[in-house]
Amino acid sequence: MKFDILTLFPAMFDGPMTESILKRAVERGLIGVTLHNIRDFAFDRHSVTDDYPYGGGAGMVMKVEPLAACIEHAKTGSPNGRVILTTPRGRPFSHAVAEGLAREEGLIIICGRYEGVDERVRELFVDDEISIGDFVLTGGEMAAMVIVDAVSRFVPGVLGSEDSAVNDSFSDGLLEYPQYTRPPEFRGLSVPSVLLSGNHQEIAKWRRRQSLCRTAATRPDLLEDAHISASDRAYLAELQKVAGSDG
Ligand code: ADE
Repeated sequence: MKFDILTLFPAMFDGPMTESILKRAVERGLIGVTLHNIRDFAFDRHSVTDDYPYGGGAGMVMKVEPLAACIEHAKTGSPNGRVILTTPRGRPFSHAVAEGLAREEGLIIICGRYEGVDERVRELFVDDEISIGDFVLTGGEMAAMVIVDAVSRFVPGVLGSEDSAVNDSFSDGLLEYPQYTRPPEFRGLSVPSVLLSGNHQEIAKWRRRQSLCRTAATRPDLLEDAHISASDRAYLAELQKVAGSDG
């Protein structure tokens, strides 16, 4: 998977791309990350990349010409790359969106800044607009990092253990169950005995119920689309009864 990132602040990417799992993925050639400084494609003496909005109003708008030149340059190295603009106006990013994007040959991610980009950039070049949440960041760089990280986890070989992405929160539509490691007791808190029992069927049942319980408590909206069996449904009904009798 090839990522091309178009940004006014390439140095922001120094840390996340050069540590841990992404670093290893780059070293192994599983992913490639190329940073393009949009300012290098400005055409005037002062390397101007933004300007006042037509019609007035606060803030600055990213100019079309440097972005067009930068995108066309990135396209020469990634002709089939999907062009993504990071913006709070985009479609919501999710586990499923990341999984879909991982099937692309490459992603060309434009990090939006200021009040936005000239609309003609979107009309001429952008295939997809993505928001990482209902809040406004100072720029799209961190959103781009989130996208690169989450998409890379779906690229075969990037994760150490092949089934890590399969057991993730969201992969079956539910939040992940709690995890424990040694020691068996810490400050009076013990690891649930079922996890020490060696009974894999009971462990699987306990984990499933924990996932259901957590999801019902913090993200009940996820239950609507999750794969829920008849016994899951019975357990959820039981939970609701207990919660009802508490109140
Ligand atoms: N740029 C600013 N805020 C953003 C958000 N929430 N998602 C993606 N890009 C952004």
